Order: sequence, then C-alpha cells, then structure tokens
Amino acid sequence: MQDILQRLEDMREDARQGGGAKRIEAQHSKGKLTARERLDLLLDPGSFEEWDMFVEHDCTDFGMQDQKIRGDGVVTGHGLVNGRRVFVFSQDFTVFGGSLSAAHARKICKIMDQAMKVGVPVIGLNDSGGARIQEGVASLAGYADVFQRNVMASGVVPQISMIMGPCAGGAVYSPAMTDFIFMVKDSSYMFVTGPEVVKTVTNETVTAEELGGATSHTSKSGVADLAFENDVEALLQLRRFLGFLPLNNKEQPPHRPTDDPHDRLDMSLDTLVPPNPNKPYDIKELIHKISDEEDFFEIQPNNAGNIVVGFARIEGHPVGIVANQPMVLAGCLDIASSIKAGRFVRFCDAFNIPIVTLVDVPGFLPGTAQEYGGIIKHGAKLLYAYAEATVPKVTVITRKAYGGAYDVMSSKHLRGDVNYAWPSAEIAVMGPKGAVEIIFRADRDDPAKLAEKEAEYRDKFANPFVAGQHGFIDDVIMPHSTRRRISRALSMLRTKDIKNPWKKHGNIPL
Ligand code: HXC
Repeated sequence: MQDILQRLEDMREDARQGGGAKRIEAQHSKGKLTARERLDLLLDPGSFEEWDMFVEHDCTDFGMQDQKIRGDGVVTGHGLVNGRRVFVFSQDFTVFGGSLSAAHARKICKIMDQAMKVGVPVIGLNDSGGARIQEGVASLAGYADVFQRNVMASGVVPQISMIMGPCAGGAVYSPAMTDFIFMVKDSSYMFVTGPEVVKTVTNETVTAEELGGATSHTSKSGVADLAFENDVEALLQLRRFLGFLPLNNKEQPPHRPTDDPHDRLDMSLDTLVPPNPNKPYDIKELIHKISDEEDFFEIQPNNAGNIVVGFARIEGHPVGIVANQPMVLAGCLDIASSIKAGRFVRFCDAFNIPIVTLVDVPGFLPGTAQEYGGIIKHGAKLLYAYAEATVPKVTVITRKAYGGAYDVMSSKHLRGDVNYAWPSAEIAVMGPKGAVEIIFRADRDDPAKLAEKEAEYRDKFANPFVAGQHGFIDDVIMPHSTRRRISRALSMLRTKDIKNPWKKHGNIPL
C-alpha cells in the first residue's frame, strides 16, 4: 500500500512540475507567475480541489507521442474566493506554451459543465499560444466546444477572463464571450492575427504590445475592461471584484455588512454642481460620496470616459453605477460610451444587480464621425438595455438631461423605478441657448431679444419642476441627502418583481 501511495504522490509531483524547472524559470524571468502560483493567490488557502491532473494529450503526430506532460497545459478545478465557490482553469505556459489540445479543451469543458450544474462563476486565467499546432483540427474543435459553453453560460453564471500572457488567433473569442476581460500590463496581449500577419496583409508595422497589449485594449478598442500592473495585483483585484457578483443568475448579489450609515449626509454635495452650467465637475466625486466607504470598482476607466460605470455598495448591497461624466466631452453620449454602458447595464440586469444612474447629459454627440459610425444603432443599444432591464433602477438627475439622452438615461418612461432630480437639474429638449436659436431664428440679429427669450426658456424649462409636474420625476431632492434617498429607494425596491413578456430572445441592435 505504501508503494501505491508513494506512486500517487510522485505522479502528483510530476504534474505540478508542468514543463519543468527551466521553463518555469523562463516564465518567472518574464515577470509572470506559473499557473499554480496564480491559483494560490486567487483562491483561499487550501481550498483548491484540482481535477484531471493526470489527463494527457492523445496526439501521435510530429513526435508528440513521446512528449506527454500530466495535466496537458491547463490546471483545472474549483476553490473558494473569500469563502465563495468558483470554478477555474489556469493555462500553463510551460507546457507547449499553454496551447490548447483536444484534451486541454476537454478539461476546460468539464469544469464549465460542472459550474453550470452547481451555479458558480467560471474564471479563466489565460496564458496560451493558441491552438496546439501539432493537433490541427482537433484543437479547433476543442475551441468551438468551449465557445458553445461560453454562450450557454452567458447570463447564467458570471464568466471572467484574466489575460496573463499571449492570447492569439481564435483563442481570443472565448474571452470575448465572457462577461469581463482583465489584462496584465506588459505581459499579456490579445489579437486575432499577430504583427507578422498584419505586416504581410496590410504592410503595417506594429509591435505585439501596440497591436494587442493591455493599454491598446483598455483605451482604444474597449475589448478589455481593466489592466493591472502585474500578476499579483491582478489576482488580488480579481478577488475584490468577485465580492460584487452573485454566484449565478438566480442568486442575489452578496451582502457585506458595513459601518457606513446608509443615511449619511454629505453637505459638500450641495456645491458640487458649479453655478455656470457650462463648467464641468467630476461625477466620480458624487459616486464616491454615495458609496459605502467610498469604495467604487470602476470598469473601463480609460475607455469612453464620458460615461463612468462600475460597482459599489449601498447599505452593504452591491449596485451597478452608470454616470455621465461632465469632465469628458461634456458628458455627451457617443458610440463608445453607449456600447460601454449598454453592456454594463445588461450584465447588471442578468445578475440581479440594481442600477443607480447619475445623469448630466447634454445629448448625443453630433457630427459625421458619429453618424457614419452608426450612433443611431449604437445609442439604441443603451436605450434597449435600460428598457429591457427589470432590476431595480434608481436615477438621479444632477444637472442636464436633454433630448433623447434624457429618455435613454434610465428615465421614468423606460421603467425607471425611482427618479430623483437635484434642484440644479435642467430637463428639456435641449439647452436654452440652442432652443432659442431655433425657435427665434428670425430674431438672430437681435441679441437683446434672444437673451431675453433665453432667460425665459431657462426659467420655464431648464429646471426639474416641469418634469415634476408631469410626475416624470418622483421628487426634487437635496444633493446632500442623495445617499440617504437612493438607499431608501433601493430598500423599498428589494422585493421588486416584474417580468418581460416571453420571447425566445430579443433583437438588440448589434
Ligand atoms: C504548440 C506551442 C504553441 C502552439 C507555443 N508553443 N505556441 N506549441 N502549439 N500554438 C510552444 C513552443 O514551441 C515552445 O516550446 C513553447 O511553447 C514556448 O513558446 P516560445 O515561442 O518559445 O515562447 P515565446 O517566445 O514567449 O512566444 C510565445 C508565442 C509564440 C508568441 C505564443 O510561441 C507563438 O507565436 N506561438 C504560436 C502562436 C500561434 O500561431 N498559435 C495558433 C493561433 S491560431 P518549447 O518546447 O520550445 O518550450 C489559433 C486558432 C484557433 O489559435 C481557432 C479557434 C477558432
């Protein structure tokens, strides 16, 4: 018996060595941790249950029959993050560059299937040279098996991709179908075709970092949601991030007790909005001040800065925050911000996370670049997302809510549950100056008359009271009491229960 136990221990140790000491050293020399070191950081100590440690590939071409490594380039299993279960796969770059063989794919599929059965998130730590070249179509089939599961799991359990090394070719499409993509600066990249192919096809010269590094994907393409400095920061932040999410779509997001009083007043908010309506202010100040312990986990901070999205807690309950940012493009909605916020709203709705919307929006960004780029369809994504969302929706208009953008930003008309306005709110078809220039075009050479009409328009429409008369907002609130009012609204909405009509699925404007 002792012999068998020893044999098991030896086999396990062999699997733990992955591609061997030399390759582990090479991994470390790039500033990267190994697949197992990453799991040690991500999961609560001692909680990891590894599966399929003894799986090997079944390829017999190109001498592969003599190169079998236990586990075959991916460590899979389940464990706990702050006491809550997750399934994980962590690709091992020291084994055939973390490339995906049929066996490797089967391991990932197995944990995805199990995660769906028990209703817990799937986390992928990606570090892979893509399809295992020696296996050809068997590897491509393996990818497609993973893709199919990504789609079935979408909206059922949260799926998160942490890109911690190369992610090339079709391999990017599994992360693309997950809910969030995080990257590590300087050591990870994602692209459909690498720099050499780009050079051949388009004659562009570009480095891997420029083409698909963390900076490009978090600030230019919007493909990735966040970039972290290194593996350690990435994994610790991933632990923090998971604390905002429910384990599945049938659960409520996790409550975390807080000492921060839900009715805390903040007098500084009374002067947050500048007297000059054209002067910007930082909406993040409001977000921090209404959040428990001022804790806000921002998503896509470097992409489409004219809208701010992310997670916070109010009275210990997670909420998704969507806020126009007057500091960037005056807070206008454009293509990038509509896509960013639309996707975020849909995630929150899928996973029972109430949405708090802070509105200061002068409208949609005008111009040919936007129109040719399809702002009509892209702006409609955000509109569609808000309109279909059935989670609690609380809206606060701090200043401008003009035109179609007023409708879009979780207005009463799109089933906003509780809609508040600050006294500084201006809810109108457009700003007073623009309105008067159109209505009184004949008087354009009479500045005195235009100024008088502008003042009249401002007086009549650029305030929250007309909307209040219609019942389109529920109350005009003191800025300093915003946290208290939102928290009360969310508390009232905790038992909200509405359903959309049965359908196979809607047809969001893609
Ligand atoms: C098999 C691979 C591999 C792969 C790397 N390796 N990629 N083995 N299949 N796809 C092996 C290498 O042979 C090497 O083995 C080890 O992994 C480390 O690779 P290096 O090249 O030494 O590392 P590095 O210099 O860091 O470069 C990493 C890399 C590069 C950029 C990922 O290896 C690379 O370009 N690989 C090929 C990428 C690729 O074209 N993949 C297919 C994409 S198409 P040894 O034994 O020397 O340690 C695709 C289609 C999917 O994925 C379609 C789905 C629909």
